[in-house]
Amino acid sequence: MCGIVGAVAQRNVVPILLEGLQRLEYRGYDSAGLAVVHDGQLERVRSIGRVADLTEKSAGTRGFIGIAHTRWATHGVPSVRNAHPHISKDHVAVVHNGIIENYEVLRTRLTAAGYEFTSDTDTEVIAHLIHSHYARGNSLLVATQASLAELVGAYAIGVIAADNPDQLICARRGSPLLLGVGIEEHFIASDVSALLPVTRNVVYLEEGDVVEVGRRSYQIFDTKGMRVERTVQISELNNESVQLGEYCHYMQKEIHEQPQALADTLESVCNSQSLVPGIFGAEAAATFADIDSILILACGTSYHAGLVARYWLEEITGIRCTVEVASEYRYRISVANPKTLVVVISQSGETADTQAALNHAKTHGHIHTLAICNVPESALVRLCKLRMLTRAGPEIGVASTKAFTTQLAALFLLTLILAKQRGRLTAEQEQKHLQELRHLPSGVKKVLELEPQIAKLAEQFASKHHALFLGRGLHYPIALEGALKLKEISYIHAEAYPAGELKHGPLALVDKDMPVISVAPNDALLEKLKSNLQEVRARGGELYVFADAHTHIREAEGIHIMQMPEHAGYLSPILHTIPLQLLAYYVALQKGTDVDKPRNLAKSVTVE
Ligand code: AGP
Repeated sequence: MCGIVGAVAQRNVVPILLEGLQRLEYRGYDSAGLAVVHDGQLERVRSIGRVADLTEKSAGTRGFIGIAHTRWATHGVPSVRNAHPHISKDHVAVVHNGIIENYEVLRTRLTAAGYEFTSDTDTEVIAHLIHSHYARGNSLLVATQASLAELVGAYAIGVIAADNPDQLICARRGSPLLLGVGIEEHFIASDVSALLPVTRNVVYLEEGDVVEVGRRSYQIFDTKGMRVERTVQISELNNESVQLGEYCHYMQKEIHEQPQALADTLESVCNSQSLVPGIFGAEAAATFADIDSILILACGTSYHAGLVARYWLEEITGIRCTVEVASEYRYRISVANPKTLVVVISQSGETADTQAALNHAKTHGHIHTLAICNVPESALVRLCKLRMLTRAGPEIGVASTKAFTTQLAALFLLTLILAKQRGRLTAEQEQKHLQELRHLPSGVKKVLELEPQIAKLAEQFASKHHALFLGRGLHYPIALEGALKLKEISYIHAEAYPAGELKHGPLALVDKDMPVISVAPNDALLEKLKSNLQEVRARGGELYVFADAHTHIREAEGIHIMQMPEHAGYLSPILHTIPLQLLAYYVALQKGTDVDKPRNLAKSVTVE
């Protein structure tokens, strides 16, 4: 989603802004732009397309203060006129991430006041609004604060003015923004990866913060306009972790990082002899003792992780569990139960729908909250009482891979710890699970060896327009995840069904042109699944089966087998995810799509 970078320094900031934007490219965007103050004037460069185009167009632009932006279109098509920064009366420039809900009312008012709108965006009202307050003699800070008070919606903004070469104003509410602290220079960015070449010292801004950023100092004001201090943290993210290295795409790199990501996520547990609630926070033991049900809220891939967890949680702990798509839950009038543990799952920790769903749950009386998240200091982590950080490292590819498998690992730990606390896990079972978790990274490594075979298989998919994914039980959510991966990056229409549901409708779609991909673990539902596969074959459907060892599903005409290792029990969904990620990746390569930045999608969905 939109990315913001800003800088006020003793040097030309244009290269800093451009490199920052390039590092935010993974968030997804369709146009880019920057503005600097130079010789008392605003200079703006905008481009539709890649940051590389903006870089070319910016040759010769310089300034010691500036703001820059990658735009993911919400209001108005991707075009140069809609690209940020937006400028009011050649004087005030604004970049914005978020959505201003009352922009139409403001636009009408500002038009009547003589402001000319040159874009279709909601953002432009912010520029004119700030200008209207600034023109009345207010400081840029006060003009911005006054304008923000009139906005309804979500924002992270950066503001500069032509006659103020020393101050950049920024603010956030509902969209992420942080401040980078350098030596006699300061920066702003949507996420820390944008700033790594210039600083590691960052201040994660809180909801409603407004900051006056100068070269030597900065001042933060809270929602009430009071000066506040926020801790400067040293980011642990290292530069290498956001480099592509030997891989062709971030998605490929991230698929291959899964053994390490899982090992890192499980590190504290696997090094110990027993499972303790403390890994979820100091209050976890007391909280877990007080709950009688679980409600999982998430979006997309993270929602699929929740669906897998429901099988584990109900079967192993005996605790009732529901899983809801966050964007639906946030608007649903539901029955709250203060003894429910609300679990939000998110890679980014900034997903607007998941945040809103969590807030909705809290307002309705839910008090026990847990975030499973990959980004420390993200909004969701800060909003929850308990937390477990997955340690997948930065995930750049829009298609989530290592975040998903590490979320599953964290959710399995939650299951085991709850089961243990409820006396549903014997010491022997605990040791057995710990042993299996220790072997998980090497199990994933083994599955990754299927890569050349899957690359070959993908050749058969490039000409297809549709695909059906099947799974049963614990692996039905894995089929959903496989279908999501394929549609996201290869643009092939893919659906997932629990295999038993085929005959209730989707079987009508099956013919020789419909590839049917099935996850076939050697579990209690195997024989049922085999019958479902026969139903497909009998209608001429081409089957691609990811089968565990000893399933006795044989290669035959129209049946292609990808041989998985021995069945991994409860951890099997993690292993079965890997080949589906690889399949989506290699089909996308065949189709020549932009794997890491698929069309129309953004990495962090920070707007509703
Ligand atoms: C998955 O590949 C996605 N791009 C998307 O579904 C993602 O999982 C979803 O937007 C939720 O994001 P989050 O985990 O950062 O909250």
